[in-house]
Amino acid sequence: MHRSSTWITRSRALLCTTLIALNSGCTPAPEKPRFSLPEGVAPDSTEARLLEEFYPAYSADAPTVTATREFALRAAPTEADIVDEKGLKVWAFNGVVPGPTFRVRIGEKVKITLTNDLPQPTTIHWHGVRVPNAMDGVPGVTQPPVEPGEQFVYEFVPKDAGTFWFHPHVRGSEQIERGLYGVLVVEDLKPPPYSQDVVWVLDDWLLDEDGQIYPHFVTRHDLAHDGRWGNVATVNGSTAEQLIVKPGERIRLRMVDSANGRMFAPHFEGLEPMIIAVDGMYTRRPLPLEHFEISPGNRLDVDITIPADSGGKTFTVVDRFTRNQFVLATIRVEDVDAVKSPQFEAPRNEHVPYWEGAHELDVDHVYKLDARSGGPHGIEWMINDKVWGEHEASALPPDRWTKVRFQNESYRLHPMHIHGQFFKVIARNDEPVDEPYFRDTVLLKRKESVDVGMVPLDWGNWLMHCHILEHAESGMRTLLTVEGENEEKKESAD
Ligand code: C2O
Ligand code: CU
Repeated sequence: MHRSSTWITRSRALLCTTLIALNSGCTPAPEKPRFSLPEGVAPDSTEARLLEEFYPAYSADAPTVTATREFALRAAPTEADIVDEKGLKVWAFNGVVPGPTFRVRIGEKVKITLTNDLPQPTTIHWHGVRVPNAMDGVPGVTQPPVEPGEQFVYEFVPKDAGTFWFHPHVRGSEQIERGLYGVLVVEDLKPPPYSQDVVWVLDDWLLDEDGQIYPHFVTRHDLAHDGRWGNVATVNGSTAEQLIVKPGERIRLRMVDSANGRMFAPHFEGLEPMIIAVDGMYTRRPLPLEHFEISPGNRLDVDITIPADSGGKTFTVVDRFTRNQFVLATIRVEDVDAVKSPQFEAPRNEHVPYWEGAHELDVDHVYKLDARSGGPHGIEWMINDKVWGEHEASALPPDRWTKVRFQNESYRLHPMHIHGQFFKVIARNDEPVDEPYFRDTVLLKRKESVDVGMVPLDWGNWLMHCHILEHAESGMRTLLTVEGENEEKKESAD
């Protein structure tokens, strides 16, 4: 079947050049892309309406490159003064845990040279970034693993501004647990003028009696539960992270859950944070942060104005995902005169579709999540009764509206992540819901089913897996292939 994927038609530019001679006031029309339906979609169909609504939400293409930013990342064992300020034997990027935060601007090309000085092969996956498929860091799918002593160069132009993170995709359950992760912030062309732009990497650690990382990974216990949960939770490697602010400041706080299995639900006592982005992408409008569950893989950006009269106060941020609440971090307000709060409209994406009526459409792909006993770890987590290696890839046609159902048949948690794509939750347990944002990772609770709608724009073989790393390691991974007949697009995926 041949399907051209011309989403973009340019016709106004031509009209304008003919007018230029007659009318000096005619500026050439900007090359405004216009939506055209992919072949095979009837103009009066529900799908046509959903596609039309989706089309302005985010771009199919990378922006024009304005500059190249080069970074080096060296993965190696080291000792870090984190957790309780005692030397913790970790594996780190550039000697620090969390790894570096790379900040680039949308339009910049990112070029990162990875040097592997670990005792194991590794790769880097750019979680949430719509990269060319060959840059996605999945061993055996998009690249061979990078052997100890070797290097690999990742190069891509981010298509979206937002909060992203990176981590290995070889033995993630061990490598990420030992400290290998970092953050990629892609700034807007004009970053909103927050007083501070702060990153909090949330993690937890399972330490043994010697205060070192418990060296047994993917245990039967981890697999029988929601992965490896630690006995110490940290923010930016610290059990007592403190953000220092001035009264009146307006903060953009970017949170990332880099844990193997732990979910977080941060409550900011005495403050009124507004959610402005989920998984890197702006929400339709700012949303009050009531109780938001951040699963491994998720990012959450909030906009917080520190009350002008709070000089000298300390606010606590408490995790309430489980019944055992604990203080995650604190926000200490200096005892000084209030600064004038920056006044601007919080960033948003008004084009996040509502996709009304999507619930009535058929499900294109169902993924049942469950476990069986057996395999090298004693328990295997499966997708549709199969483990990684036993599946055929699911074919997702590019540019078409697609509905995917995750069906949790188990009593455990599964944050399901799709590489290279964003999706929107449209139903839970068959009840329509409108989450006013896209995601790349969605948490399924026990026995829950979640329907998501998506329009795959990025070509290639993309991994889909549970982001509880032990579940993924024991089998809960499969592939989605987004591909059509367009040779140019096929090449651009490499
Ligand atoms: Cu954080 Cu395969 O992903
Ligand atoms: Cu899982």
